[in-house]
Amino acid sequence: MGSKRASREEPSAALGPKVCPVSASTARPYSQATKQTGRLPDRLPLIRPICQTRPVKPNPPSCRGYFGIGAESISKSVNLGGLLRSANAFGASFAFTVGADDRAFEMRSDTSKADTHLPVFHWRTVDEIQLPKGCSLVGIEILDEAQDLPSFPHPLQCAYVLGPERGALSADLLARCDQVVRIPTNFSLNVATAGAIVMYDRLRAVGRFAPRPVSERTAAPELAPHVQGQPKRRRQGQRQG
Ligand SMILES: C[S@@+](CC[C@H](N)C(=O)[O-])C[C@H]1O[C@@H](n2cnc3c(N)ncnc32)[C@H](O)[C@@H]1O
Repeated sequence: MGSKRASREEPSAALGPKVCPVSASTARPYSQATKQTGRLPDRLPLIRPICQTRPVKPNPPSCRGYFGIGAESISKSVNLGGLLRSANAFGASFAFTVGADDRAFEMRSDTSKADTHLPVFHWRTVDEIQLPKGCSLVGIEILDEAQDLPSFPHPLQCAYVLGPERGALSADLLARCDQVVRIPTNFSLNVATAGAIVMYDRLRAVGRFAPRPVSERTAAPELAPHVQGQPKRRRQGQRQG
């Protein structure tokens, strides 16, 4: 009896890791809280999934241009799935693999079903790669001569290509790349993680966001309203860009 009472007063001690991480005084096990009310208690806003309280922020802000992303000789389905899922989430226009290992397609690990939302091309060799006209190929690789991602001017139309889990982008593919970019890290990242970082950096660089406040104590500046440019006057015969 005594020990039961003690466990009510100190649920965190008695119930181990399944205690909600709010504070010691309000902490109750998830199962106990949901059993009483049929839903997670209002006092625990932090652990309620955002989608239960409001719609998740919709599409990424529309950016000018487009991008695709893919990987060479990728061999793990979990990595391909992760990359496709991030591509879908960040608004890629297409995705691709070059010389992928069959094992990469063995298991479906992209829960967003990216291939039902965007075209995914599977090219067997570098020679088979077909990009839209005007689309630059940007290699993502740890190379001394690569440009640092934070200072990289993302081309408006481009395809990013990552290397395999073991190894690096092939010499053939590097020769095909217009530019190569490196993420400043101490050692190599997982290929799907590297892809997500590149796409996030593109979104930050090309998307329209309010600037960051200059310090944590200053208010965030508002996003300036979009101003429609004047119509361009072209001389007769001049090509449109
Ligand atoms: C796991 S890494 C390959 C292993 C790596 N070559 C090594 O020896 O540790 C897979 C791919 O992710 C990309 N990658 C990982 N970290 C990167 C970084 N810091 N900068 C640029 N690309 C990176 C590259 O495309 C790379 O080929």
